[in-house]
Amino acid sequence: MEKREQLYEGKAKILYATDDPDLLVQYFKDDATAFNRKKTGTIENKGEFNCRISTVIFRLLEREGVRTHWVKTLNDREMLVKRLTILPVEVVVRNRLAGSLAKRLGLEEGRELSRPLVEFYYKCDELDDPLMTDDQVDVLGFATGAEVAHMRTVALKVDEVLSRFFLERGIILVDYKIEFGRHKDEVLLGDEISPDSCRLWEVGTLRKLDKDRFRRDMGSVEEAYAEVLSRVET
Ligand code: TMP
Ligand code: ASP
Repeated sequence: MEKREQLYEGKAKILYATDDPDLLVQYFKDDATAFNRKKTGTIENKGEFNCRISTVIFRLLEREGVRTHWVKTLNDREMLVKRLTILPVEVVVRNRLAGSLAKRLGLEEGRELSRPLVEFYYKCDELDDPLMTDDQVDVLGFATGAEVAHMRTVALKVDEVLSRFFLERGIILVDYKIEFGRHKDEVLLGDEISPDSCRLWEVGTLRKLDKDRFRRDMGSVEEAYAEVLSRVET
């Protein structure tokens, strides 16, 4: 496999072509953004933390029967992935009340939800990723009805697997965002799953081990990512 030209640069990753039209190299950067680029910065070694954490998670999910774009990890910052046509929705799963849901409803963060909540957001920085109903996603053609149903099922399966995995390592999976894309006749889980895209709280202390430390200027951001890495790699 030979790495070729850069195809796309996003907020946290770069995608490169390879000599195989079906495969891309996904490179993880240290750049950090929050609130749809209104806040920017760097988290030292984040690229390496997130590539390694995502690797553990994709490998686990594949073993549990979840189909993902991950093929193999090439080094500390790069993974080989299948080329997807990303669907323009972010799928958020929440196990506890936090973040934008708590804020929008004027409720305090922290309460456990009675069951996992699956939400769809339109991927659009200019509009601050507005919330969409499942029906809107389908009727507006952002994904088919069958794809919406599939994304919901997979999102809940991911939740089951990852909630247990993190809990065994002393971490509560509060909520997270995942993305999906079309590949041939399948819809695969894409992107990354890392402290950039999850809320992770330490069991007992409820210490935040994720990007909220950057978003909310709490300090010790690198330490939190390193802590997650050390817990998931053991
Ligand atoms: P929210 O509470 O801000 O809606 O975020 C829910 C989860 O999704 C949280 O774990 C952070 C993650 N997320 C992203 O990864 N990217 C985003 O653009 C947004 C809005 C949230
Ligand atoms: N919206 C995402 C976040 O807050 C990333 C970004 O805004 O750039 O995590």
